[in-house]
Parts: sequence; C-alpha cells; structure tokens
Amino acid sequence: METIRLPRVMQEMAIREKRAGRTMGFVPTMGALHDGHLSLVKTARSENDLVAVSLFVNPTQFSAGEDFDRYPRAVSEDLEKLSSSGLADFVFLPETQNIYPPDFSTRVEVEGLSERMCGAFRPGHFQGVATIVLKLLNIIQPARAYFGQKDYQQSVIIEKMVKDLNLPLEVAVCPTVREADGLAMSSRNAYLSPGERNAAPALYRALQAGAAALAEGRRDAGGLRALMEGVLRAEPLFSAVDYISAFDAGTLEELENIDKNTVLLAGAARIGTTRLIDNLLVNNLK
Ligand code: PAF
Repeated sequence: METIRLPRVMQEMAIREKRAGRTMGFVPTMGALHDGHLSLVKTARSENDLVAVSLFVNPTQFSAGEDFDRYPRAVSEDLEKLSSSGLADFVFLPETQNIYPPDFSTRVEVEGLSERMCGAFRPGHFQGVATIVLKLLNIIQPARAYFGQKDYQQSVIIEKMVKDLNLPLEVAVCPTVREADGLAMSSRNAYLSPGERNAAPALYRALQAGAAALAEGRRDAGGLRALMEGVLRAEPLFSAVDYISAFDAGTLEELENIDKNTVLLAGAARIGTTRLIDNLLVNNLK
C-alpha cells in the first residue's frame, strides 16, 4: 500500500495505471475509518484491479460554527486499518493547501438537489462536497467510486454531477452498515456520550416505524411524519429534529401524498451537540 500526499503525484500514478488498462476503484473518506468505510473498500476491491482511498477532512463542506475543528482525525489508525486489511493499493492523503491553494476559486453547485433535506439546514455543504468530490475524481481517475447509502442525499448529488458533467465513471451506492442496535455507523458517533450513544438508535427506530406503517398500507405523508417524529421525540435526549419525513427518492422533494413505488424515509436530528442522519429506502409500495 502506497501513501501519496501530492495531488500531482497521485494523478500521474492514476493516469499511468489507467493507460496500462487497470481499473481503479475509489473510496473517498474524511478518515476516522469505521466498518462502514471498510465495507466500501471491500466492495471496491472485489470489482476493480486497484483500490484507492482518500483521507481528507474537507474544510469547504463545513459552515462556520459546525464541527470542522473537532471532526475526528485518526490518520495513523486509518493507515494501520487499511494496511492490515490488505484491501487498498493507494491512500491519498493530501494537505489542505495543495487541494485549495490561495488562488482557488471554482465551486461546483448541483442545483435543486443541494437545497433540499440537509441542504436546507447546512447551506453550502453540498457545494463543498461536490467540489471536493469532482477534484478527487479528476485526481484519482477511477472507473468506479463508492459511497454509503447513509449519506443518501450526497450520493444522489454525486450521481447527478457525474451525469450532468459526463464524467467517465460509475457511482456505486452501498448499503448502510449498522451497529448491533441499528445505529448507522458514522465517524460522528465518536462524539456521543455513553447516555447519548444508548439513545441514538431511536432515529433508526423512528424510520423503521415509518417503514412498517408504509408496509401496512399507510399513505398519508403527514401522518407518517407525525408517527416517526413521535418515536424520535420519545427519546428526550434528541434535542432538535431538523426533519424526519418521506421524500421522493430521485428528486429528494418532500412528499405530501405517497403514490410512488419507492419512498425515501430520512431524518436528521441533534442529540446533544451531535447531528445524526439516517434513512431507509422503502420499495415495492404499489
Ligand atoms: O462522505 C464523506 O465522508 C465526505 O462527504 C466525502 C465524500 C469524502 C467528501 O469530503
């Protein structure tokens, strides 16, 4: 496993591999790797000749007042996990000043999708995500890039960017990996106190209650919202609910009537100072 810090060196290596006919699978991450990340790396390994993982806490996807400064950083542990797994060929570990030099002035905006759901609560977040992901794709030149369904909105935005800009790669969205009690794995789970950690699976339980109601034939989105919010708020440590609702799985618009075959149930809520997100895709409703 080779660790590369300079974008130019990483890009030259990637171009050389591509010209030699080897496919690259790419897993972009912000580090603090958990089993969710490793499952993406495993899938990338099984579908490509080579695997690259990036570790970069991207400052432009955090707004002022968000958790950029305290976001978990664990580079040596991450390198150890990747190296002992034997799954990665390249780790791209750039310095911020080499990704965003002082004269950097380009932004990628995927309009519409970026303003919905989490975008309404985190202005500029998805512009930061789309910009860094496009840069990373240009540097690493993958045949396939892997994202987790936990960040469903992010994956839809990346898919749209790839389509709109004719980028020559496949985007793979892989299932959310959960703890035994259902909590979706996330680097931010490290912020939770023991009490908050016990309470946190209420978000998944709320979404499951929504999915069960849909399976039983419930179709009023307002009632579904109230049901899911009720389950979530029954856990008093959830101090604020940004949203928990039913959305169109393609456009990410909030649904008033549930008349689709597939529905995205998704929620974002704060527990103490930690913002958690989760979602379930419910299929075969018609
Ligand atoms: O999902 C993440 O960890 C980040 O948003 C990503 C895709 C690595 C971009 O910084």
